[in-house]
Amino acid sequence: MRKIVADRIGLISYAIRELVPLAREMERKGEKVIYLNIGDPLKYDFDTPHHIKEALYEGTLKGYNYYSVSEGLDELREAIAYKEKKFNGVDITAEEVIVTQGVSEAIAFIAATLLNSGDEILVPDPTYPLYQTYIRVFHGKPVFYGTIEENGWQPDIDDIRSKISEKTKAIVIINPNNPTGSVYDEKTVKAILDVAAEHDIIVISDEIYDRIVFDATFKSTAALSKDVPIIGLNGFSKVYLMTGWRLGYMYVYDPTQKYRDILVSALVKMARCRLSASTPVQYAGIAAIKGPQDHVKDMVAKIRRRRDYLYKRISEIDGMSSILPKGAFYIFPNISRIEKDDKLFALKLLKEEKVLVVHGSGFGPSGAGHLRIVLLPPIELLEEAMSRIEHFIKKMYGNRVSKIN
Ligand SMILES: Cc1ncc(COP(=O)(O)O)c(C=O)c1O
Repeated sequence: MRKIVADRIGLISYAIRELVPLAREMERKGEKVIYLNIGDPLKYDFDTPHHIKEALYEGTLKGYNYYSVSEGLDELREAIAYKEKKFNGVDITAEEVIVTQGVSEAIAFIAATLLNSGDEILVPDPTYPLYQTYIRVFHGKPVFYGTIEENGWQPDIDDIRSKISEKTKAIVIINPNNPTGSVYDEKTVKAILDVAAEHDIIVISDEIYDRIVFDATFKSTAALSKDVPIIGLNGFSKVYLMTGWRLGYMYVYDPTQKYRDILVSALVKMARCRLSASTPVQYAGIAAIKGPQDHVKDMVAKIRRRRDYLYKRISEIDGMSSILPKGAFYIFPNISRIEKDDKLFALKLLKEEKVLVVHGSGFGPSGAGHLRIVLLPPIELLEEAMSRIEHFIKKMYGNRVSKIN
């Protein structure tokens, strides 16, 4: 038999969905599994605002059914530039915005656009897994920089500095962070920008959770950059509750003007390969930005209550502890005092108690000994899930817990 599949397929892993086939199989056998693994509010009691749904229908009736230009509808790019200014203080023009089918696609385009074989991109450890994957698929090397758990998972600036080499093309920031829930201090973002400026490298800033922040002030990287080119990533999945619609964007903000045109035209070339993002969905994206924003406040209040509940429950369990998440919708508890093998823990928890969480090591080496749990389910479901987790820890790790105490 010929080797028909390319080696790069072996480089793809996506921890968040790894245990899903097993959970599905259990469900087929009649078990009731509680899913705490996927960052999709629409899987719980959140829904896309009605006026956005109406706009999608209206878009189809008005004839927005053709392939749009690859960089996206002009009206949407204008709306995105307006949104970035209004909410994040970022000064960009519509020409600097490229509309994508979600931030996921933007990550692929950026990796394809920046990387020659062996080039490096610094990514936070732990990280959102697609960064590692796409950097590898496009023959680059993801180089992890540390983030410090005791310091609320803020990036370790000295470590970033020490990891920069001749081959470094960019530094990735995910803020607010998935999986840790950290929101970076302004001082930290500025320090990262200083390192980037010293070495003439760009910063890629994933801000998809920009308006889902609880007890912190979020500052957009581009709003703080004086001399570093930024590729900003953002989208409609989370804040506008449009996960399944697949709409996102990236922008190039370059105060030096050195790389702006080169980057925009290279990224647009990549975008042309897939023709366009869905045109009626883009039309609805305009309504999302221009229409009422009330749902954001309600959503954040709801997630905050769930965060408070989960944090309290986790803090009460012997052998589990967590930093309080300040943004996004994840909590990243540490279980290393009772179990270093987080993957085994997640597997056993699923098999024994029918609760699906993501093992922390799937997000990078320093995620080992951690779990990622979504803050999205209603309190009653979280209550049930936490009771099962508590029961599991007592049953499987009772001895270790009593030794800790
Ligand atoms: C940090 C981060 N970036 C990007 C994405 C992908 O989002 P999209 O739905 O826009 O592809 C996610 C989804 O969970 C995410 O958490």
